Amino acid sequence: MERKPLIAGNWKMYKTLAEAREFAKEFAAGPNEWPDVDVVICPPYTALAALQEALEGSAVMLGAQDMFHEKQGAYTGEISAGMLKELSCRFVIIGHSERREHIRETDESISLKVHAALSQGLTPILCVGENLKQREQGKALGFVRGQVEKALVDLSSTEMGGVVIAYEPIWAIGTGKTATSEEAGKMCQAIRTTVAGMAGGVAQEMRILYGGSVNKGNIAELMRESHIDGALVGGASLKAAEFREIIQQAR
Ligand code: PGA
Repeated sequence: MERKPLIAGNWKMYKTLAEAREFAKEFAAGPNEWPDVDVVICPPYTALAALQEALEGSAVMLGAQDMFHEKQGAYTGEISAGMLKELSCRFVIIGHSERREHIRETDESISLKVHAALSQGLTPILCVGENLKQREQGKALGFVRGQVEKALVDLSSTEMGGVVIAYEPIWAIGTGKTATSEEAGKMCQAIRTTVAGMAGGVAQEMRILYGGSVNKGNIAELMRESHIDGALVGGASLKAAEFREIIQQAR
């Protein structure tokens, strides 16, 4: 089963509008630059409109870093899937470990968001991953499997096939410490097996990414793992030249 690689940049709470415009200019992606890789940038909400304009006609797709599950209403501070689609977003990161930690997102709210994103035509990039303690205690696999099952509960097989999962061990995020490609590959395989248990054959079509200190020096080796279909890149996606290099290496 051929799965098209996906490289997504997660800018987190970095870049003002001016900086985002500067990035787009420097990144200067042409329309057919990477026909064999899907490239996504997930900037802060405030830079979405500017990037929509700056990246028009380029090979880069847009994503958001979160969304709320309701379509509209009295939810101060929240953003809906419809609002994101209007800004040409095709993807949305859901359940990033930083949101699980600092914003106290739960498996239940994450599941609601995954359902809402899919039903409104956005591709969720569902983030899962264990912390260092869980890894050291040998509990990583069970924990991640639980996160996947809880987030995908009650979805149809077809819907599950439309989800992208990003395995991001918390101890590897922003630390410069990457999981070895073998460790990462094994976990991505376990995630695929979990999804296969829930949805059958579509698990083979699902794209599973690795994230956590991905850079131009380690991406090629990670991509050699048969169950790793791409990467969610934080820090290294902030620099246009480095992000380009990562995409190039991933091909
Ligand atoms: P990092 O972040 O590449 O800076 O480790 C990855 C992420 O949190 O998505």
